[in-house]
Amino acid sequence: GRSTLDAVVEGVTLVEDDPEELTVGFGGLPNEDGVVQLDAAVMDGATHRAGAVAALEDIRHPTKVARLVMEQTKRVLLVGEGARRFALANGFVAENLLTEKARRMWLYWRRRRSQIDDWLDPSPDEADLDAQAWYDRHFYHAGPAPSGGTVHCSAIDAAGNMSCATSTSGHAFKLAGRVGDSPILGAGLYVDNDIGSCGSIGHGEANLQHLSSYAVVE
Ligand code: GLY
Repeated sequence: GRSTLDAVVEGVTLVEDDPEELTVGFGGLPNEDGVVQLDAAVMDGATHRAGAVAALEDIRHPTKVARLVMEQTKRVLLVGEGARRFALANGFVAENLLTEKARRMWLYWRRRRSQIDDWLDPSPDEADLDAQAWYDRHFYHAGPAPSGGTVHCSAIDAAGNMSCATSTSGHAFKLAGRVGDSPILGAGLYVDNDIGSCGSIGHGEANLQHLSSYAVVE
């Protein structure tokens, strides 16, 4: 009995709250500086109204903030410190989104990243098997392929109304300020009640170059 927008926001919020999910929300892997920066967007298929946030820090529910951008402002996309201040003004609580697991993964990557910086590689007695396995899978493609990342949810109700939402912490260890496809309308998500809904996970830069969600729906 609730709207499809309620449904998709609640759906991705579950994933944003999961500390074991390394690519979305709380517990997402940080950027190269060790700071978690989140991207998210929502879109309504009846009106094409939409809201988005990018490079948002300290707020665990970026999709709910994106919804408020759509519902409370004349704008579509807020980024960085402006998005953070908008969230705080709306009662969201600032918190450290970097879990212990994500911090260990990041530090392992940081130490193994280069031979020409001040860091030494972890020694065998410092081995962190979880972090090492993850690192090898992502950067050396050893073992099972990474299964993607990011969450998208599209919903349709009995009357044919559609909404969608996409949320991500973006590429692991990205450049500070990097924004992927997830909060960009037509790339990370797109919906039109007359046609359908589409969203994406995976390598955002490829999608930004092709606006694939828009292409699929249109
Ligand atoms: N598709 C998520 C990202 O590239 O950030």
